[in-house]
Amino acid sequence: MNKNEITQLVKDCALRHIAFIMDGNGRWATSRLMPREMGHAAGAKTFKKVALYCRSIGIEHCTVYAFSTENWNRPKAEVAAIMKLLDQYLDEGEEHENVSYRFIGDKNGLPTEIAERTRALEAKTAGRDFILNIALNYGGRAEIVNAVNSLIAEGKTSVTDADIASRLYTAGCPDPDLVVRTGNELRISNFLMWQSAYSELYFSDKMWPDFGTEDVDAAVVEFSRRKRRFGGLDKK
Ligand code: IPE
Ligand code: IPE
Ligand code: MG
Repeated sequence: MNKNEITQLVKDCALRHIAFIMDGNGRWATSRLMPREMGHAAGAKTFKKVALYCRSIGIEHCTVYAFSTENWNRPKAEVAAIMKLLDQYLDEGEEHENVSYRFIGDKNGLPTEIAERTRALEAKTAGRDFILNIALNYGGRAEIVNAVNSLIAEGKTSVTDADIASRLYTAGCPDPDLVVRTGNELRISNFLMWQSAYSELYFSDKMWPDFGTEDVDAAVVEFSRRKRRFGGLDKK
């Protein structure tokens, strides 16, 4: 399929929000006898390419899992290398026209300077067409707990689905239609626990740095063949 056909397919199957669990950077590097950090650097390039490609085929929202609340358990040097890549990315972010950045996750747990820069980039790019959510120091359970605690702090004694959704980091964003995980692992790893209740799941055995625009196309085609029922029955 060419790009026009994929763009049409995105429209026809109402694929508005795609999410990626960008996994496999470390194994990609190790298998090439390189330090894991180089895998993260290669993964950062893939991320830029894939996110901009999603925008170019008409997807409105893209969410990527960049760093989980559990990833702090990794060796200090690896965490530092990831934060450095992020720092570099924050310098470039503004150059991408028509991208609104949102950093989802607990900003207070990030190094102060990075947290401030993520806030600044969000403010500077607000209101643009394409929403790029970057999950950073993100945990799906923590997100729900935060949401409930903020409702309690306002004096609520019982809450609805809509109340909780309105306090998630992704408030205002449609739920992901499709969640793609690379790296040949078949799990969710605490990503978008609430929002992915009815998402279609797509697993790729490619390591994230090897994931390309043709793989996005394959995921879109697969998504277009799924029958989403949301608990109901197939439409005749
Ligand atoms: C994903 O790749 C990136 C982050 C979690 C930051 P990994 O670093 O988990 O790569 P593998 O799974 O060890 O290969
Ligand atoms: C999930 O990958 C987190 C990110 C991609 C940022 P992990 O590599 O941390 O997940 P597990 O440990 O294999 O479940
Ligand atoms: Mg991993």
